Amino acid sequence: MKILSIETSCDETGAAILDAKSEHEIILLANILATSMEVHATTGGVIPEIAARHQSNYMLPVVWDALQTAKLKPEDLDAIAVTYGPGLIGSLLVGVETAKTLSYIWNKQLIPVNHLFGHLYANWIGEKYIPLPAVALIVSGGHTDLLLLKSHEDITFLGGTRDDAAGECFDKSARLLGYAYPGGPKIAQLAQQGDENAFVFPRPLIGSHDYDFSFSGLKTAFLNETRKYFPLLRKTTTQAHVGWQEVALESQLSEREKQTLYDLCASLEKTIVSVLIKKTLQAVETFGAQAVILSGGVAANEKLRETLLETLEKSATNIPLFVPEKFLCTDNAAMIGAAAYFTKERAGWQTLTANPELYFD
Ligand code: KG4
Ligand code: ZN
Repeated sequence: MKILSIETSCDETGAAILDAKSEHEIILLANILATSMEVHATTGGVIPEIAARHQSNYMLPVVWDALQTAKLKPEDLDAIAVTYGPGLIGSLLVGVETAKTLSYIWNKQLIPVNHLFGHLYANWIGEKYIPLPAVALIVSGGHTDLLLLKSHEDITFLGGTRDDAAGECFDKSARLLGYAYPGGPKIAQLAQQGDENAFVFPRPLIGSHDYDFSFSGLKTAFLNETRKYFPLLRKTTTQAHVGWQEVALESQLSEREKQTLYDLCASLEKTIVSVLIKKTLQAVETFGAQAVILSGGVAANEKLRETLLETLEKSATNIPLFVPEKFLCTDNAAMIGAAAYFTKERAGWQTLTANPELYFD
């Protein structure tokens, strides 16, 4: 089954083509991504209106590029898949309306895909045998969710964040230090030179017996601790938030102060990673999972990947960890095509609508 997939839920404009031969053999033929990140770097974050305007310019060239790269013509395709939520409404509409139009003029079936299932199914791209039941941790800029997959038809939502997502905690903390979105990779880079045990941050809900997360208190604790050491950041919230447009904090610090900054970042990263792993293991033990699946933009984090792998290897269950290659962790269209292969639902080009609030049913 050859699927053209489209992803425009946030600031990226993606089109991919997959040849899904079976559940265990999903071959990536093309994966094109246009980004307006350099535009957002001048504003410190994604401005929805600007993102959607760029996406409407990029959309058709990106689809065309995917067809050229895969060396396919529209008539070779079996289906068109598209992210219809969750995400930014203007951005989603660009992808959804494009997919509807192409499905109509090319007479192809239209497969609506939940972006979060896209992250999950990024793990099935390539030649994969993932044993079930599996516990899946989806960690992105907007979501932190734990799922139980008994089969592709039986996926249960176990819990999620009650406030900020893990990625948001990384992003907002990085923004405080003067770095534009996405801040996760920057915090991870600064953390490499730091001592992860230098600061002890709260780990909200760590002892709760559910599968929920909370990262907003941790974000505030990082803000308060950082301001203690760096008077430069003791401005009003508004000023601090525009501070990033000036110069990153790091470049204004002495060597000794820089070490404190690295220690703060390492301790923050360690705290986020330890909370994610604790809840994941709790689910693995409770449900007798045969595998752990990690996905979403934060799954690109080395510390999370390595620590989770080490923890699973050391644990009594010793079950395998599945993580997509890094370019498939952050938003991309290939993962939407993979999820479409496992989706039974079909949409009419007349009726499909974007749903920014879509979550797990
Ligand atoms: O999945 P994604 O591309 O978009 C959403 O659906 O949100 O995830 C983006 C998130 C951002 O919060 C970004 O900071 C985070 O993933 N991220 C990372 C890393 N790479 C991306 N966080 C920590 N370490 C990384 N290496
Ligand atoms: Zn995403």
